[in-house]
Amino acid sequence: MSDLQTQAPLLPVLICPDPQLRKMARAVTPADKAVVAKLIPSMFATMYKAPGIGLAAPQVGRHLRVITVDVAPNDVPTPIALINPEIIGASEETVVQQEGCLSVPEQYADVTRPARVKIRYLDEHWVKQEIEADGLLAACLQHEIDHLNGVLFVDYLTPLKRNMLLRKLAKAQKELKGKR
Ligand code: NI
Repeated sequence: MSDLQTQAPLLPVLICPDPQLRKMARAVTPADKAVVAKLIPSMFATMYKAPGIGLAAPQVGRHLRVITVDVAPNDVPTPIALINPEIIGASEETVVQQEGCLSVPEQYADVTRPARVKIRYLDEHWVKQEIEADGLLAACLQHEIDHLNGVLFVDYLTPLKRNMLLRKLAKAQKELKGKR
């Protein structure tokens, strides 16, 4: 994590059921270059502060197709910023991994997703890149790309599990507000 990333202004993270989280993010164009150059360091700063392993721009109220991730493989910080990420391949094999989300604080659930994915994107220097991911990184990238389409991990749960989780979240948020 660079100094730039730690010093960038933090952004408030929207909490479910904020309707902003359900809006589709639009593709980034060269006209967005200046905005995105400011947004990415702030997204990293916000993500590390939380702390979280991934953040999507809609979670901070920006409906642009930008995500940041760092799953720190072998405890080595590995920040990746992805502009206009696109899943161009996914394995038939699926895996179940426990997921959480900064917009669904302190709630966790098992989610089934393709075990491996191939993603095409532009990096923070606007260079075309491809990444093949498995394990935690694969789940994290799919989770963050879902955010760009207004999809949350709770959408993969059965209605019963989803309602239980969302009720717990609402209760916890209410208690938190009461304490403020
Ligand atoms: Ni999330």
